[in-house]
Amino acid sequence: MTDPAFQKCINPDCGAEFDCGQTLFKCPQCGELLDIRYNWDKIEVPDELREFAKRWANRTRPLDFSGVWRFRELLPFCEDEYKVTIGEGQTILQQNDAVGEYADMQPGCLCLQYEGLNPSGSFKDNGMAAAFSHAKMVGAKSCACASTGNTSASMALYAHSCGLKATVFIGSGRIAFGKLSQGIDYGAQTIQILGDFDDCMRQVQNVCSELGLYLLNSLNPFRLEGQKTIMYRIIEGLGWDVPDWIVVPGGNLGNSSAFGKAFGELKQLGLIERIPRMAIINATGADTLTNLVNNKNLLWNDGRVNQATIAEYYADLTARSFSPHTCASAIEIARPVNLKKCLRSIDICDGVVRAVTDEDICDAKAIIGRYGLGCEPASAATIAGLRHLRAEGVIGRGERVACVLTGHPLKDPNVTVNYHKEKQGQFSNPPVEAPNDFDAIVKLIK
Ligand code: F0G
Repeated sequence: MTDPAFQKCINPDCGAEFDCGQTLFKCPQCGELLDIRYNWDKIEVPDELREFAKRWANRTRPLDFSGVWRFRELLPFCEDEYKVTIGEGQTILQQNDAVGEYADMQPGCLCLQYEGLNPSGSFKDNGMAAAFSHAKMVGAKSCACASTGNTSASMALYAHSCGLKATVFIGSGRIAFGKLSQGIDYGAQTIQILGDFDDCMRQVQNVCSELGLYLLNSLNPFRLEGQKTIMYRIIEGLGWDVPDWIVVPGGNLGNSSAFGKAFGELKQLGLIERIPRMAIINATGADTLTNLVNNKNLLWNDGRVNQATIAEYYADLTARSFSPHTCASAIEIARPVNLKKCLRSIDICDGVVRAVTDEDICDAKAIIGRYGLGCEPASAATIAGLRHLRAEGVIGRGERVACVLTGHPLKDPNVTVNYHKEKQGQFSNPPVEAPNDFDAIVKLIK
């Protein structure tokens, strides 16, 4: 391969390579996941990460304003003319000592990365900016995805801004209303399948290959290139320093896969000196990764993952007609497509995996709402997970932790309203009823 960027199968016994002009979502030779790889010696990469800060001076240029393309030398797979941006990645890293106290962290040690501040309200926009640039490069006209909601909202938004037709597959009754409303408002055709996310994921892959639609799930390796930039922005938010820990929710495992790749590359390029550790947090009702890693000892093993362990686990899910259930519907996934890449990230980042209950998620969400900018349930799994890892002593009280809050609080108003109104948890803040009478109202004011 002579191009600076190419696609490569992650299976070391295959390792097939393809140019970036091809639209492939799995290795055509062995069926494994594909990576985007770079011949770094053919690319001019800044000597220091802080050099990227200079782009702030050119904020009127859309590619310099974008929180994804500001870092374009670190995802150099296409020419500028194809690059798509709608202003994604203007997200912030905020220190939050009150939430830190809830998780038993020392003041100054916990930071929250608010990816809900993206145009469609979730981190997905980082990945879509990159993947739609590839879609434009290859001349795609129609696209599709399976989704627990945020992918569909983000894809629908980018699709209409790029002039592509969009179809989304969602599990009937499995998606939060904020997300459903976005996809239909942004003009995507929405197909509700009588099944869960994993059923939708299977269907969309078949439909995309049959009809030649461009697939925008995180199986698409270009999406993960965009999601790497969340880590660059955390480093930027810490004054170009790396934290000790990244905590991220685990669903289809695209983020954890992208983050490990980002740190591996930064280290290889000499742009960081050490790689932070990573904690990936499942919900207990959708805890495939936790089971496979913690109970079945599944490892990356230099790419030679024990396939039999995975097959046996999935066969058991099928035999039990298992369908995942959690109030964090975004991560209600039992067969995560990026499992193997996530195992690689765990290897790169000395990662740990935990599962937290819906009760823990809702309480943590209420705390993030009360003391921070709020988030959707899946995002709150990070703080719930951090609290557990503190109690276990895996994460130190004085270590510097960045939790990725993946989605906006308005994505799932039902979970929030039920928690508070039905007094479901210890931090519920229910509304009080009052007669339409001045004195009665005044008496109620605390
Ligand atoms: N947080 C939110 C808010 C999400 O929407 C998702 C995934 C995740 C976390 C998990 O991220 O898949 O990278 O491990 N949502 C996908 C969707 C599956 O269809 O919107 P992951």
